[in-house]
Amino acid sequence: MAQKLIAPSMLAADFGNLQRDVEMVNNSDADWFHIDVMDGHFVPNISYGMPVIQAIKKHATKPLDVHLMIEKPERYIEEFAKVGADIITVHHESTVHLHRTLRQIKEVGCKAGIVLNLTTPVSVLEDILPECYMILLMSINPGFGGQKFEDITYNRVKKLRAMIDERGLETRIEIDGGVTDKNIKRLVDAGADVFVAGSHVFKSDQQTETIKQLKELANS
Ligand code: DX5
Ligand code: ZN
Repeated sequence: MAQKLIAPSMLAADFGNLQRDVEMVNNSDADWFHIDVMDGHFVPNISYGMPVIQAIKKHATKPLDVHLMIEKPERYIEEFAKVGADIITVHHESTVHLHRTLRQIKEVGCKAGIVLNLTTPVSVLEDILPECYMILLMSINPGFGGQKFEDITYNRVKKLRAMIDERGLETRIEIDGGVTDKNIKRLVDAGADVFVAGSHVFKSDQQTETIKQLKELANS
């Protein structure tokens, strides 16, 4: 994929000033909104659901990349599409009939992707890869923003990149967790395409500049 993309994670936004933060992303070099949905079962934390996504969608001028950290996501695919999801990713570890769930996502008109936890081998994707618009590799244990990036991710990206290229596929590789200006270039070199950044962007006192810097580093 030519252009490397940046997806700020709205989990780190100021929920009291959500419209302001959505507009910041609209007016920045960012490409997508990354939306983290957590149910307190699949991950130990609860984030937000449909009404908040709908509120973001109302102001967003860029696609919503919805990352479902919920058990049995197949129960809610239609609802997430209705509130404005453009891309929906589900965890390999969260649903028994992954193939059916991906089909469901496509049937409601969204792009479909799979997320792997930190130590789920990328080889589990072998048969399902051609069905995927994107694979999200977690670079932390999902559930919370602001955690430290895990270095095992680099090798995982390389392995997955080789699997995608061997098959001549267009599948994108997204990285989520602890992405900063310090590791983004090495991730690009390993073969990643899309970068989620939460704390690094929203904790910055120059958010637009920080996004611009990530985008430039990723595409340099
Ligand atoms: C965590 C979420 C991430 C999180 C990333 O489970 O999937 O998207 O918001 O936050 P940072 O960039 O702060 O690690
Ligand atoms: Zn996420």
